[in-house]
Amino acid sequence: MSTLVNDQPVTLPRIGDKAPDFKAPTTHGEINFSEWQGQDWVVLFSHPADFTPVCSTELTEFGRRSEEFKKRNTKLIGISIDSVHSHLAWTQNLAKILNVKLPFPLIADLTTDVSRKYGMIHPGESATVTVRALFVIDPKRTVRAIIYYPLNTGRNVDEVIRLLDALQTADKNGVACPVNWKPGDKVIVPPPKTEKEVAARNALQGVQRLDFYLVKKSL
Ligand code: BEZ
Repeated sequence: MSTLVNDQPVTLPRIGDKAPDFKAPTTHGEINFSEWQGQDWVVLFSHPADFTPVCSTELTEFGRRSEEFKKRNTKLIGISIDSVHSHLAWTQNLAKILNVKLPFPLIADLTTDVSRKYGMIHPGESATVTVRALFVIDPKRTVRAIIYYPLNTGRNVDEVIRLLDALQTADKNGVACPVNWKPGDKVIVPPPKTEKEVAARNALQGVQRLDFYLVKKSL
């Protein structure tokens, strides 16, 4: 479905697409996204507006958990259609009332240029603010996962970290992660695609074989 915001087209990067590059003002100065990313993973997430309650709980939770993202070579960056002045006033207020200093930049997307590139404005929900969109972007700048939440429900930072762990574990070991997987749990050996692979699969030792297509193993 094609949508216009500010009379300009909105695009929605999909999983597997290259994450759109951009230059934008932030609370850490102007950034060129690809240069700022370097070789790290990125979690790029939008919030509807500064000085709003649910957003205040989300941003400060990302702030509290920022070391856990750092351990996973992941940079956090927030975005909303607010000015740098508003972001600075809000983040100072959050430090005062919730005692959390945000160590990551917030993009001030007054032009909506970045929000439109990432399909963060959903006019059916609101034509004037970004929904709670979250993109996990890998070091090759490929979009690996997308989460959308509406205005009235905060995201789950545990789940964002679990998602990063699952993606990084899957990449490193050539496996997949089952429902409710968490680090330390068994992983899924990808299903065979040929008869030869079925035979090789049947010869695997030390795995939990439920059927030829459903095999789990410990890492
Ligand atoms: C909030 O963060 O509380 C919020 C923001 C926009 C609309 C509704 C709630």
